[in-house]
Amino acid sequence: MRICVYPGSFDPITCGHMDIIERIVDMFDRVVIGVLQNREKQPLFSLDERLGYIRRCTPGYENVEVEAFDGLLVDFARAKNALYIVRGLRAVSDFEFEFQMASMNKKLYPEAETIFLMTNTKYSFLSSSMVREVGRWGGCLRGLVPGEILPDLMKRLKNSL
Ligand code: COA
Repeated sequence: MRICVYPGSFDPITCGHMDIIERIVDMFDRVVIGVLQNREKQPLFSLDERLGYIRRCTPGYENVEVEAFDGLLVDFARAKNALYIVRGLRAVSDFEFEFQMASMNKKLYPEAETIFLMTNTKYSFLSSSMVREVGRWGGCLRGLVPGEILPDLMKRLKNSL
């Protein structure tokens, strides 16, 4: 069984993340979306909110599960029996960090492979922090975050000021 982990902060999930998820559901038997609890980055959305938003965007996928993790990604991947770690690349600027991370993960968990997918160029400018910034000031997030969560997310972000 081919199992992958797709990790991230998802603060919040965007159309760019969904683009990757929609493509990997057909590539793997099981996709585990790992949401980092993230003490360093201090997320705007609580862990439960981030998990809830992702679950609302992925109900039709039987092979997708959404779970929180803390600590090392490789430990989470091992616990899930995942031999693949999926990351999206938006631009060359993502490469250096991703290269370091993939190399470290390879050292810690040699059996696992990191697979990079190019994010659709429609979303190469997109990031969760931009979504937070635009939403906070009442800008429209249509086409940037999945339609299932758009109204709630816009309301929630406006209230975060
Ligand atoms: N489309 C659009 N934007 C995307 C995207 C896509 N396909 N994929 C990622 N992004 C954006 C995110 O929105 C996020 O934006 P932000 O910085 O404005 O919030 C940014 O890219 C990076 O986000 P993400 O992919 O969630 O990565 P991260 O840096 O928050 O977390 C982990 C990366 C979770 C994989 C990494 O921190 C980790 O593994 N941590 C666990 C500890 C560990 O094992 N460390 C050792 C590894 S070296």
